[in-house]
Amino acid sequence: MIKGCIRALFTKSALVGVSKDRFTRLLLQRMSLCAFGRDLIPYDPPDYACHLKHLPKYKIKLAQSPTPIHKWNIPGVPDEYTISIKRDDMTGSTLSGNKVRKLEFLFADALERGCSHVITCGGIQSNHCRATAVAATQLGLKVHLVLRADIKDVSEVSCQGNLLMNRLCGADMYFVPRGAPYETQLKPRMEIIAQQIKKDTGEDTYHIPVGGSNTLGMFGYLDAFTELLSQGVADNFDDIVFACGSGGTAAGLCIANYLTGSKLKIHALIVCDSAQYYHGHINEVLRDVGLNDVTSEEIVDVIEGHKGQGYAVSQQFELDYLRDVAVGTGIMLDPVYTGKAVLGLTQELRTNTSRFKGQRILYIHTGGVFGLYDGRIDNTLKQTDSVTNKLHMWMDINSPPSDSK
Ligand SMILES: Cc1ncc(COP(=O)(O)O)c(C=O)c1O
Repeated sequence: MIKGCIRALFTKSALVGVSKDRFTRLLLQRMSLCAFGRDLIPYDPPDYACHLKHLPKYKIKLAQSPTPIHKWNIPGVPDEYTISIKRDDMTGSTLSGNKVRKLEFLFADALERGCSHVITCGGIQSNHCRATAVAATQLGLKVHLVLRADIKDVSEVSCQGNLLMNRLCGADMYFVPRGAPYETQLKPRMEIIAQQIKKDTGEDTYHIPVGGSNTLGMFGYLDAFTELLSQGVADNFDDIVFACGSGGTAAGLCIANYLTGSKLKIHALIVCDSAQYYHGHINEVLRDVGLNDVTSEEIVDVIEGHKGQGYAVSQQFELDYLRDVAVGTGIMLDPVYTGKAVLGLTQELRTNTSRFKGQRILYIHTGGVFGLYDGRIDNTLKQTDSVTNKLHMWMDINSPPSDSK
């Protein structure tokens, strides 16, 4: 297999006139990939997607899949509904969550193009950026992150949550204003960084858009839908619900659901932006893959009304709910995406029943556990009389332990 890698790389490098140094670097990168069994796998699309335009050429195995599905008895759900959970929070450990499925296609493309660097962007606690940093490091690429943050100086940057992982991966992190728009502020910065890298090292940088949500990344959740079908989801469920941030998960699931003609209804519960924005994004992807006779509005229910005080801003009742789900079920949600989505789902099931097709709901847990380590939930957990604050001093074995404070 290693011989094959070298031959393929040599032929390609000779064709594009790559320097000796760069060839050696690429060769080492490819060899370490082969050694870890992470070579490029030619992508074999499911039959229902064979006719799409812009099919990926390759995929690379990053996610631990299939992820399990099990029953989930969360607080606040009316009795007539049953909720189950698809554990895409278990696609890995540090490399986990929904982004890993998209990155399988994006990193395959980066490697195929011979890039040695990858650049992406997101919020300061972005799970997508952390997953990108971990995947890049495992695959031998250097990682650069443009992060939106409310900070004035790098001394304010903590080692908490996803930032800890980014630091451990040696990521270069660039902090930009919290409200900076993608097209006019983030993308141009990413281009500047890539140009500088090219100038300094001669190396190429692969750009991943916010959330990994472009047409290529969409195939991550198109494939995940195939996995759901293999798990019997079309027969055993009526509705699929998940948190929606940049729209890639929603795009993959609703396009696959449409193409297979399944009877499932897809609901994307948004934690930022608006339904109009997500339909716009999904419509672009539909056109890009050549599906001109259908609109996003027809194939996905985008649920608004649950972003609370805004993206990544938590209110006390949202943190309380997240704690209650953890204490009651052992499943950890995150404050930015899944906590709001699951709370929103329970509210919709109580007040807006007509939007659901049936009573068998599958919630897809999209991960984000490291966002839980950013410190914001500490006071909630430390509240006097909280079940999460059962702490006892017991220094002397001859005296009883103290009561909880
Ligand atoms: C934990 C978690 N859930 C859901 C989402 C939203 O997924 P998408 O960006 O594909 O809409 C994200 C994306 O950032 C995420 O990190």
